[in-house]
Amino acid sequence: STNINILGIETSCDDTGCAIINRNGKILSEVCHSQNLMHLRNGGIIPDIAQDLHRMHIEPTVTKTLEEAKLSMEDISAIAVTLKPGLPLSLVIGMKYAKHLGRRFNKPIIPIHHMQAHALVARMHHDIKFPFLVLLISGGHCLLAVVQDVDHFQLLGESMDCAPGEVFDKVARSMKLRNVPEYSTICGGQAVEAAASKATNPNMFKIALPLAEYRDCNFSFNGLKTSVMYHLYKKEQEHKIVAHELIPEVNDLCAAMLMATTRHLIHRTQRAMEFCKDNNLIPEDRKQLVVSGGVACNNYIFSALQMLCNETNYNIYRPFPKLCTDNGVMIAWNGLEKWRKVWILQLISAL
Ligand code: KG4
Ligand code: ZN
Repeated sequence: STNINILGIETSCDDTGCAIINRNGKILSEVCHSQNLMHLRNGGIIPDIAQDLHRMHIEPTVTKTLEEAKLSMEDISAIAVTLKPGLPLSLVIGMKYAKHLGRRFNKPIIPIHHMQAHALVARMHHDIKFPFLVLLISGGHCLLAVVQDVDHFQLLGESMDCAPGEVFDKVARSMKLRNVPEYSTICGGQAVEAAASKATNPNMFKIALPLAEYRDCNFSFNGLKTSVMYHLYKKEQEHKIVAHELIPEVNDLCAAMLMATTRHLIHRTQRAMEFCKDNNLIPEDRKQLVVSGGVACNNYIFSALQMLCNETNYNIYRPFPKLCTDNGVMIAWNGLEKWRKVWILQLISAL
C-alpha cells in the first residue's frame, strides 16, 4: 500500500515516549509519559525505578498512541526504537516491547541512535540539507558533529566529563530552587533559566571559561560546576543559611552559571565553525547550524548562538521546544528518514 506509518518508541532515560508519523512526516499522534515528578521527589533518576515505570507505562502508552491516530498495528509499516545511548535498564524495556510487537505483527524494526534522532528531527519542520553542523546539548550529552547524511555523523568534539543539563539539574538541587513554589514542578534547567532572568548583579560571581587554552572542539563542565558549588557554599556560610533556605544571591548565581555555560558553548561552536571552514566540511554557500537536545530549549543560550551565527553567516535552526527534549516523534522521524533512504537505494540498484 502507499500508506506509510512509522511508530516510534523512546525509553532511553526517564520518559516513555511514543509517536506515529506518516510518509509526509505528519504527526498522527504522540503520547509521552513523563517520570519527571517522581524523580524530582527522589532528587534524581534512580535507574531501577525508571525501569519499573517504563515497564508499567510502555504498553498503555503505545496503545494510546495507536488509538489517538485511529490506527491498529496492521496499519504500521515499521517500528523505530531507540537502541542507544541511554540508561541500559530503560533502553531494554523499549527494545523488548518493540521486538514483541515486531514478532507478533510481523513488522520490521528500525534501531535508532538517540543523539542522531535529536539532530535529525530539526529537518522535520525546516528545510535543512546535508551536510550541516550540529550542537547537541542535553542532560546526558554535549557534542558537536557534522551530519553528512542520515546515518553518517562526523564527531568533532564532545564533553570530557559531564553534560550541561546534568550540571543545571545538580546545581538547581543544591541551590534548593525547588523550594520556590513556581519552580517546584519544572526541571533544573528551566528553573535556572527563570531565576537567571531575575538577576540584578550576575557579575558578582566569577566563573572561569573552561578549556580556554585548547583549540579543539571538546567540552568540560566539571570545573564550572565545582566553581558554582564553591560560590554557593561560601554564601551559605556567610549568611548562615539553614536547611530549606535559599541564598539571597541565588538569581545572580544562576545567571553567572548560565553565562559561563553559554560562553563555553559559543567558544567551542565558533571553533567547530573554523574547523569546518579549514577542512571544507560545510559548503560556504549553505552554512547551517542545528541546535537540539533539552538544553537547546534555553532561550538565553539560543540567542547567543543566533548572534554567533549572524557574525559567521550561518543559518541557525532549532526544533520546537517539545521536539528538543526527549520524545517519540524524533525516533519515528529518524525511522522515516532511514526508511526513505533504503527505498531510494533500492530504486537506484534496480536501475
Ligand atoms: O534531551 P533531554 O530531554 O534528555 C536527555 O537526553 O538528556 O534533556 C533534558 C535536559 C535536562 O537536564 C534539563 O535540565 C535540560 O535538558 N533543560 C534545560 C532547559 N530545559 C530543559 N536546560 C537549560 N535551560 C532550559 N530551558
Ligand atoms: Zn535526549
